Amino acid sequence: MKNILFLSALTALSLASCKQNPEQKQPSQIVDLNKQPTIEKSSFGKTKDGQSLDLYTLKNVAGMTVTITNYGGTIVSWTAPDRNGKYEDITLGCDSISGYEKGVPYFGSIVGRYGNRIAKGKFSLEGKTYTLATNNGANHLHGGIKGFDKVVWNAMIVESPQPTLKLTYVSKDMEEGYPGNLSVEVIYTLLKDNSLKIEYSATTDKTTVVNLTNHAYFNLTGDMNNTILDHEIALNCDKFLPVDKTLIPTGELKSVEGTPFDFLTSQKIGARINDTLNEQIKFGGGYDHAWILKGQNTEGAMRSAAIVYEPKSGRAMEVLTTEPAIQFYTGNFLDGTIKGKGGVIYKKRSGFCLETEHYPDSPNQSKFPTTTLKPNQTYSTTTIYRFSVAK
Ligand code: GLA
Repeated sequence: MKNILFLSALTALSLASCKQNPEQKQPSQIVDLNKQPTIEKSSFGKTKDGQSLDLYTLKNVAGMTVTITNYGGTIVSWTAPDRNGKYEDITLGCDSISGYEKGVPYFGSIVGRYGNRIAKGKFSLEGKTYTLATNNGANHLHGGIKGFDKVVWNAMIVESPQPTLKLTYVSKDMEEGYPGNLSVEVIYTLLKDNSLKIEYSATTDKTTVVNLTNHAYFNLTGDMNNTILDHEIALNCDKFLPVDKTLIPTGELKSVEGTPFDFLTSQKIGARINDTLNEQIKFGGGYDHAWILKGQNTEGAMRSAAIVYEPKSGRAMEVLTTEPAIQFYTGNFLDGTIKGKGGVIYKKRSGFCLETEHYPDSPNQSKFPTTTLKPNQTYSTTTIYRFSVAK
């Protein structure tokens, strides 16, 4: 019974897509046996302080490419086919390192040590209080002033049948205020079914908190001059976390029923996004909340969290994860001041993010699933972004 509503969302999605373009053909599924998946390394210039950066291009047999730099473990570009087989970049980002270094809002990057907010930048662990930078009003956001998105990771091409890139980073004890030397590993694998698998793991030498995610901004039209308001999204979530006006969860797990947060059946992102009579929409300036995945969170089990469909291109993306929550953010803070790839100005709602994670502010909310990592434990989560084309 539990999955039925979400399945009906899927059905609605495919029905909607069939209706839209009955005469459109699926791109050819024929795979050229001479083609091999590849991973290539090139230069991505140097940071302001002279560190050399690399860009890795992962390509699968179908023709999907994902480029990743070791600066922030950032996904710089990602091409996906439309219903005519045309590959276009479906992510926001910058053409060069100088763009990222000017300060962009986590375009495509790995976010840590703690993705999302920690109230007032404070938390207690084993009787000690820790103070983090407050880089988002009164709160701490996405790992602080120099989070994992702004550091240079070690990168290594892994020998594997699928293009695989392993990134590692050691975050020092008390870096950005967090206790413990944390060894982090993020593995990106581009699968032949047009999925990008991201595996995160970490170990520590002192008790700490960890919540890792990727902050890719998507626009499935492939043209970032468009907003994402006509994309249709279904979230496999019957509850969400209401927030206060500084976007810290109040602690309540609220049913989505009868609210603009109900995406159990597929809805246009823009349908209710301006319903400012809803206090939660008002606080977020749109959607900027964590939704809780339906069903039991069994450690290591992958669940489908979201399906997005873009009617004009026919592109669809499913997000699967072992995480208990997903932050759906609709680019509310993009304000036309950033010139992105190809000189395109990123305006409000040029992109959306689906950040799989534990709940925001968990270190201060004892009723939320724990984000504490102890020295004898291994943090391990997996998220898959899977692309397809609707008929
Ligand atoms: C997250 C947050 C948003 C915003 C963006 C970056 O998704 O929840 O409030 O900070 O990152 O701009």
